[in-house]
Amino acid sequence: CGIVAYIGHQNASEIIIKGLKRLEYRGYDSAGIALMNDGLNVYKKKGKVSELEEFIKDKNMKSTIGIGHTRWATHGEPNDVNAHPHFSQSGKLAIIHNGIIENYSALKKDLENKGYTFRSETDSEVFINFIEDIFNNNEGTLEEAVRLALTKVVGAYAIVIMSSDHPDQLIAARKGSPMVIGVGKDEFFLASDATPIVEYTNEVIYVNDYEIALIKDGELTIRDTKDVKMTPYIQKVDMELEAIEKGGFEHFMLKEIFEQPKSIKDCFRGRLIANDGKLVLGGIREYANALTNANRIVIVACGTSWHAGLVAEYIFEEFCRIPVEVEYASEFRYRNPIISEGDIVIAISQSGETADTLAAMELAKSKGAIVLGVCNVVGSSISRVSHEGVYTHAGPEIGVASTKAFTAQLTVLTMIALRVAHRKGTMAEQRYRSLLAELETIPAKVEKALKTDDQVKKIAELFKDARNFLYLGRGYNFPVALEGALKLKEISYIHAEGYPAAEMKHGPIALIDEEMPVVVIATRDSSYDKIVSNIQEVKARKGKVIAIVSEGDSLIPTMVDFTIEVPGTHDALMPMVATIPLQLLSYHIAVMRGCNVDQPRNLAKSVTVE
Ligand code: G6P
Repeated sequence: CGIVAYIGHQNASEIIIKGLKRLEYRGYDSAGIALMNDGLNVYKKKGKVSELEEFIKDKNMKSTIGIGHTRWATHGEPNDVNAHPHFSQSGKLAIIHNGIIENYSALKKDLENKGYTFRSETDSEVFINFIEDIFNNNEGTLEEAVRLALTKVVGAYAIVIMSSDHPDQLIAARKGSPMVIGVGKDEFFLASDATPIVEYTNEVIYVNDYEIALIKDGELTIRDTKDVKMTPYIQKVDMELEAIEKGGFEHFMLKEIFEQPKSIKDCFRGRLIANDGKLVLGGIREYANALTNANRIVIVACGTSWHAGLVAEYIFEEFCRIPVEVEYASEFRYRNPIISEGDIVIAISQSGETADTLAAMELAKSKGAIVLGVCNVVGSSISRVSHEGVYTHAGPEIGVASTKAFTAQLTVLTMIALRVAHRKGTMAEQRYRSLLAELETIPAKVEKALKTDDQVKKIAELFKDARNFLYLGRGYNFPVALEGALKLKEISYIHAEGYPAAEMKHGPIALIDEEMPVVVIATRDSSYDKIVSNIQEVKARKGKVIAIVSEGDSLIPTMVDFTIEVPGTHDALMPMVATIPLQLLSYHIAVMRGCNVDQPRNLAKSVTVE
């Protein structure tokens, strides 16, 4: 979910609606806003922020204080009633909440016994009534009631509370869900991330877990849940407005796909100087030796980031001869995993907020592991919880389906592996240098791979009505197959499976008939001959093969239905290039099917619930 709040001297509703649109990628099944004018008024609507905007068009929206929310449903279906903000029973308090209150049913029962009734099915409405109940039964301030409530709720939250009795104040708090406060001149902006804030101020405070912020009479004070006063740490965010706008592209996803030559370059800029054989990763210093001498590396991640982890497994094992395990963060955290001394955990996350990944890291830390983060969002929770790490610097990724963050993650992971291999001596100097030089050519190769766009679009036209797709790859291209299938599922809603090409004959081959499109990533690498055989297996069953091949391949085009050529590179770097036409394929198919590419149904970009 996304939260935005404002207190100051400007028109709060304009700032909040604009902010909610910027945060819509975090969830978009309902939206709402609460303002203070003739009392506390809440407006909310199922659907997109634009529907809320339409709904409030002729209402009195004058107010210099307000809170807003865009929701990704957890408790209760998306509808007007379950949308945020939620009122307390008296109607005096309103809350926006991102996260989950795990003990909400026990709290709800207690409150019901005391005569409280509930309008919605959400845990958030329970939360605000719990606060109201404490406030009514204690002498203290509202801030004090919030603090007491927070010591009793179990779960994750980022909340902002408004009260009609205190029209000059906002109270915010976080544990486990992100919250940033933008500091302006006599005004404050609160949001789930910096994107709604940067057009007003670049001075921000990242609220920490167990902190409560009170903004009153133009003053901000932060205390922790033990009531200890904290000193807010103001940081500068470095984000250009144009980075969070579409810039002439029809969708954010397309813009982000086409940004990849630049985002990959931004990722290694200042870090990689191939001519000098230099690779500097300033984010891993203290633990550089521990990483080089690691007995084992465990990678934890979700979704596309997990696919980047799979590629990294192949890279680390080949370059550094360190055994690697790649784990779904959600599985890792719940099965008492074995972490031994000398293990290094790497958490990969675009948003840096994924709840399962965060929890997996905390668990690994509690077992004594050194945890390194590979994140895109600067200042995110994962980047702060990790001991050290490397930012991907791909710039804000707004499209829900991850594209440029993936290739930037691959860039970072490759750099980390090369550095370890070099320090460890598992890679000869000459090979190391040639790989650095090759990595530097990737942006140009990606640029060339983007030129397949028109050709990919034609193929998309032919297969847009398919009901299933199979993606096959081997070695380094196996995770590319998984990622290609995930992209298609996410945005076009076509069922797709990624498989290691040789494993196909142990199951999925049964699916193949003349209707079935099979995308084979068959670039020229050490498994080339093997994948040629796999293509023959598909063709023998009359499957329609779309092959991604290296430039100049003369064999595969004679065997398959469609070929898409991409520039060749080292096997380990191929995923960055080979993934490009697959991103384009899913994009065009989704557009042709009339799907909402940037905000696919049921998904959210930043999953801050487990
Ligand atoms: C969500 C997104 C995916 C993303 C995954 C992990 O499911 O929709 O695109 O890959 O979370 O997110 P992270 O921010 O941790 O990389």
